[in-house]
Amino acid sequence: MAKNIGILTSGGDSPGLNAAIRGVGKAALSFYGMQVIGFRDGFRGLMENRTMELDSTALSGILTAGGTILGTSRDKPHRMPVGGKLMDMTDVMVENYHKHNLDVLVCLGGGGTQKNAYRMAQKGLNIITLPKTIDNDVALTDVTFGFDTALSVATEAIDRLHSTAHSHHRIVVVEIMGNKVGWLALGAGISGGADVILIPEIPYDVESVAEAIRRRSASGKRFSIVAVAEGALSKQEAAARQAAQEKVVKAKSKTARTKAEAAFEQLELQHAGHTLRLAKQLEQLTGLESRVTILGYLQRGGTPSAADRLLATRLGTACADLIHKGQYGVMVASKGDSTRSEPLEEVAGKLKYVPPDHPWVGTARRVGTCIGD
Ligand code: F6P
Repeated sequence: MAKNIGILTSGGDSPGLNAAIRGVGKAALSFYGMQVIGFRDGFRGLMENRTMELDSTALSGILTAGGTILGTSRDKPHRMPVGGKLMDMTDVMVENYHKHNLDVLVCLGGGGTQKNAYRMAQKGLNIITLPKTIDNDVALTDVTFGFDTALSVATEAIDRLHSTAHSHHRIVVVEIMGNKVGWLALGAGISGGADVILIPEIPYDVESVAEAIRRRSASGKRFSIVAVAEGALSKQEAAARQAAQEKVVKAKSKTARTKAEAAFEQLELQHAGHTLRLAKQLEQLTGLESRVTILGYLQRGGTPSAADRLLATRLGTACADLIHKGQYGVMVASKGDSTRSEPLEEVAGKLKYVPPDHPWVGTARRVGTCIGD
């Protein structure tokens, strides 16, 4: 009996999603003779039973396309906004899975998707996931698809910002995506030759950053590029976050916990506009004019790089191989030139942070880049 596969894409869009859909789909259809349908807009489409047939016509010509032909959303199965309320809709999704006689549901996504997919696996569904995100923060895989493309985009942006910074003798602070982790800011900062790189994992001291810029000025370099991850924190902010988090953990009653969580969320909200504030502070501390460039969604859009197409196709076809063997409850991870299946319970709920002693951090320091500490 031919197997029935369902596919969905969830979380932020990312270059390589279509290449991965195509990789799973083509291998499943033409190599293994299986059938494939897609659910639209992530877990929402699974809940609302909105599907798209993924036949050979649908899978043609999508390798190079950005975004996802299936659409995506950040909806979580157990907290779905329905009629103005957040509701647990996992059972409806389980029902729809069975309505389509699926043998497996393939979920393409980042850290949040891995957690949501694991929840569905705990409900008894056969699940396989693929690691996608420009943040490169999914645990137990060498790399995620989307990262390489975003790295090139952010690096090119830093290259281009050099001419304005240089010509106007300015500090240019460039904000790079990465709310919790700094792989992208660190990688692009090194590749683009940023003078300062600030990432969430290494809280910074604004005075140290200003001092590094002043030293550059004193040596005749009258401009500086500061690559800052969107989630980078000063030492004070990091200490406040940690204290707030400890209050959540130590809360003895439900009320105390809710209050502590609200205080923590408030701190997160206050982080908005952080890059603009940092640029202002650096201007005041160094006397150099500063400007901000926020790269935003430019990093997630557009055609995937060759490396991301290759990775997404490798992971997608390996996924079809696992389905053929009936191996479920796993994420298809990239390990060197090969792939490995990692148990979903090991992946879900974990993020791959930049270790402060990671070789990339050492590399940046050795070329004289200020890391802010
Ligand atoms: O996909 C991950 C990410 O790129 C993060 O770096 C960023 O914080 C987030 O997406 C923002 O995405 P959205 O605005 O779609 O929630």
